[in-house]
Amino acid sequence: MIIKKVATRPAPVLFPVPTVLVTSQIEGGEPNMVTIAWTGIMCSEPPVVYIGVNPIRYSHSLIKESGEYVINIPTVTQVKEVDFCGVVSGKKVNKFKETGLTPVPASQVKAPLIAECPVNIECRVRQTLSLGSHDVFIADVVAIHYNEDVLDEKGRPDIERIQPYGFSLSEYRLLTDKIGFHGYSKKNKNR
Ligand SMILES: Cc1cc2nc3c(=O)[nH]c(=O)nc-3n(C[C@H](O)[C@H](O)[C@H](O)COP(=O)(O)O)c2cc1C
Repeated sequence: MIIKKVATRPAPVLFPVPTVLVTSQIEGGEPNMVTIAWTGIMCSEPPVVYIGVNPIRYSHSLIKESGEYVINIPTVTQVKEVDFCGVVSGKKVNKFKETGLTPVPASQVKAPLIAECPVNIECRVRQTLSLGSHDVFIADVVAIHYNEDVLDEKGRPDIERIQPYGFSLSEYRLLTDKIGFHGYSKKNKNR
């Protein structure tokens, strides 16, 4: 069979990517939330993550000044709030008040956790890369929190309870069906 390829111009096409709410706050200021899809893990040990933020975002100035942020993984019932935080700026609107989401103190950083988001990852910036349209804030993970109700009986995060979703070609999409697990190919073939 011949598989025909169609080439297009270079673009940031990679999907699905996570959709998260990133909180930031400076000393004496109000906390802010921003929707971020340019995010991921860079290193396992030590745990290092990144977010790509356009310098025109209000959040960019808060993260640059504080050197800290929290990645909050939202659940399926928070899609509307996620979209709102991605189309409105905290420069003009208090997004916590508008969405009804609740800021709660973090343990290591000034930026708050979002109570309703089942997973919260506290981050401290170690390096910033300016690549063009976006600056990349590379950060050490300094603490992680889970809402109790998304942990299984052994205290492990349960993806079925967290119900995260991805962002693919401008759409929010659930990542639902389990189609394998780490190492299952080797196990099944008895290698
Ligand atoms: C689904 C989605 C993903 C987004 N991802 C990013 C991103 O990765 N980086 C970025 O700089 N802006 C991203 N944006 C745009 C910002 O969220 C948006 O400009 C926001 O209003 C900025 O808020 P702020 O000014 O309060 O920081 C995204 C928006 C949406 C809806």
